[in-house]
Amino acid sequence: MTAPALIFEDVSYFYADKTRGLDRVGFSVMPGECIALCGRNGSGKSTLLRHANGLARPSSGRVMVFGVCTKKDAVFARLAVGMVFADSSAQIVEERVYEDVAFGPENLNLPRPEVKRRVEKALDWTGLAPLAAKRTENLSSGEKRRLAIAGVLAMEPRVIVLDEPFSNLDWPGKTALLDELLRLKDLGTTLIVATHDVELVQGLCSRILIMDKGALIRDGGLAEFAAESQSLGLRPWGQTSRV
Ligand SMILES: Nc1ncnc2c1ncn2[C@@H]1O[C@H](COP(=O)(O)OP(=O)(O)O)[C@@H](O)[C@H]1O
Ligand SMILES: [Mg+2]
Repeated sequence: MTAPALIFEDVSYFYADKTRGLDRVGFSVMPGECIALCGRNGSGKSTLLRHANGLARPSSGRVMVFGVCTKKDAVFARLAVGMVFADSSAQIVEERVYEDVAFGPENLNLPRPEVKRRVEKALDWTGLAPLAAKRTENLSSGEKRRLAIAGVLAMEPRVIVLDEPFSNLDWPGKTALLDELLRLKDLGTTLIVATHDVELVQGLCSRILIMDKGALIRDGGLAEFAAESQSLGLRPWGQTSRV
C-alpha cells in the first residue's frame, strides 16, 4: 500500500501572541494528489502550509511527511515539501536570476554539473531561461513569482505547496502558471494550492480543503461544496458560478 505524502493529525497551533492559527486540523494527502486550499483571509491557510514543510511545528498533534514527523526531522520536511510563499520577493536571495535558482541546490552541496542541470531545467520549465542573467530586483511581479517557483523546482521536492500563487498575476500569467502546475501534476508531483479562485484551478485540483478560523471545515471533491460556496465565503465555482 502506498504511504501518504502528508498526514496532519489533530494539529493545533498557537502563535506567540496566543492567536490560534490552527484548530485540530486532520487530513492526509496521497502522493500525486492536487488539492485546492481555500477559506477567508485569516482562516489559517498560510499557517497550514508552513506546517506542511516543517517551517512551523504544531503546538499539539503532529504532521508526518512521508512517514517522518516534522518535530523529529524538520530538515527532511523542508526538502520533501517545497514552498512557494505568497510574497515572492521574500523568497529571492540573489542578485541575478541564475544564481538565485542555483542558491538552493548549491546549499545541498550537490556536484556542480548537477546544480547546473537542475538550474537549467528549472529556468526552462518556468520560461525564465532568457532572463537568466537579469537582475532579480528588476523582474516584474509575474517573473518574480516564476523565479520563486523555479527556485523550488530546482530542489526537486516531491510535494510543492503554493501560497496564493495566482495573486497579482495578469491573465496570461495565471494561465501560464496553471499550465506549469498541470505539467508538474502529470509528472506525479503532489500539489497543495492555496487560492481564492476555485474556478481557475478546477482542471488541476480534484479535491478541496476549506478552512475557517483555523479549523478544516470541509474536505472533499470540488463539486460536493459548489452549492455552498458563497455561504463558505468563497467565490462561486462550477455550474453555479457567476462573474
Ligand atoms: N505571526 C503571527 N502572529 C500572530 N498571529 C498570526 C501570525 N500570522 C498569522 N496569524 C494569525 O493566524 C490566523 C491565521 O492566519 P493565516 O494562516 O495567515 O491565514 P490565511 O493564510 O488563511 O489568510 C489569523 O488569525 C492571523 O491573524
Ligand atoms: Mg495566507
